[in-house]
Amino acid sequence: MEDKKRIAVLASGNGTNLQALMDACREGRIFGEVVAVVSNKKYAYALTRAREAGIETLVFDPSDYKSRTLWCSKIASALKERNVDLVCLAGFMVKLEASMMRAFPRRILNIHPALLPKYGGKGMFGKHVHEAVIAAGEKESGCTVHLVDELFDHGPILAQAKVPVEPSDTPDTLAARIHPQEHQLYVSVVADFCSGKLNLEGEG
Ligand code: GRF
Repeated sequence: MEDKKRIAVLASGNGTNLQALMDACREGRIFGEVVAVVSNKKYAYALTRAREAGIETLVFDPSDYKSRTLWCSKIASALKERNVDLVCLAGFMVKLEASMMRAFPRRILNIHPALLPKYGGKGMFGKHVHEAVIAAGEKESGCTVHLVDELFDHGPILAQAKVPVEPSDTPDTLAARIHPQEHQLYVSVVADFCSGKLNLEGEG
């Protein structure tokens, strides 16, 4: 039997998606192990969640480095040193540079709280996404897991989950409907990759 996949999660904020991935690994729903949690923010709550789970945390603040290129290559080296098989972005708010894609080709995933390719790209994060969906009068929204490339919220789509947009929705109520779907979708995609059901080479 193959070894468990070694997963790194990159998160800048609260980390509920990180929590879902850690819980699923611990409970055996994902044949993998979160071996490191990386943040660009020293005080991200995601780091507290990781520490509470006994998982190594690493902080790479871009302002501590001469360039984004250097910052990103340091993250890539740290993850290579830890023999990471899969990188999961979970609310990571800094764009990764080419060195990460070269270090982990087709092995970096992201979750986005909308049905890409709509409502993605620069400025489309957090509440802004849901505001835009409501303003456009969309009848449904949801979330997307995709492979990461050098553009924001771009790269081959691996899976989506849909939810209705209600006429009374505010960005907060819509986000609250989508968030649990994100957790389920991300866990199922990562579980499929770790069990060999999802071949990322063939995607996109
Ligand atoms: C999620 O909505 C995710 O789709 C987006 O950032 C948010 C992170 O939420 N990329 P959390 O920190 O996992 O709760």
